[in-house]
Amino acid sequence: MDNRPIGFLDSGVGGLTVVRELRRQLPFEQIVYVGDSARAPYGPRPAEQIREYTWELVNFLLTKNVKMIVFACNTATAVAWEEVKEALDIPVLGVILPGSSAAIKATRNGKVGIIGTPMTVNSDIYRQKIQLLAPQVAVQSLACPKFVPIVESNETGSSVAKKIVYETLAPLVGKVDTLVLGCTHYPLLRPIIQNVMGPEVTLIDSGAECVRDISVLLNYFQINASRTERDLDHTYYTTAGIDSFQIIANSWLNEEIHVEHISL
Ligand code: DGL
Repeated sequence: MDNRPIGFLDSGVGGLTVVRELRRQLPFEQIVYVGDSARAPYGPRPAEQIREYTWELVNFLLTKNVKMIVFACNTATAVAWEEVKEALDIPVLGVILPGSSAAIKATRNGKVGIIGTPMTVNSDIYRQKIQLLAPQVAVQSLACPKFVPIVESNETGSSVAKKIVYETLAPLVGKVDTLVLGCTHYPLLRPIIQNVMGPEVTLIDSGAECVRDISVLLNYFQINASRTERDLDHTYYTTAGIDSFQIIANSWLNEEIHVEHISL
């Protein structure tokens, strides 16, 4: 048993989609979350800069005595997960392998779409991981650079958001039966994405899929928390304004959370 928190990192609010699933599946685990909204989006940045920022987030989480770090960000996973995992002596999880496995399991016609940030799509990592496991699956990838700014500015309900999602996803409509939301921000646009792709397309939430892996690792290393809901004291840190983070988080997580500002 281990009551130290699990650390989550993302470029902004996207990792909250992983946290929501964690709260549902592992409600006694304590959370330390860091979102770098001041420097989001990461996706269009050069790999070296993303790597540097990711290390800053990792080092911040290490000061919080975390027992595990979850890269709740596909972009950071694509660029720096392997390296960070090798360097630390606590478990470090990413979202790309769980998302890939879930897509292989879900597809019925062997045609899978991946949407993500420019970095995630250009890295080609989803296609590589999927085809390593299941070479018969065809993968079509599409970068959606306009989606993260919509989510970070809490515009997911606007008509502009609908128009952008509709126009961006047009090349994939009718082409795949399974679509991986390969960016943890995208589940906040899920109803619009589902509407554009059609009800028969299975959407895979890469972040939510990774919570099962968190659970497996906690069991494997015997580091599950042992406590009651009363003892929980989650903390969320953002590098940008507290108010905007709090509004998005409260509505997405459906609970009041404690947010602090940090400068990295
Ligand atoms: N949530 C991050 C991801 O999963 C978004 C990256 C960004 O800031 O562009 O890729």
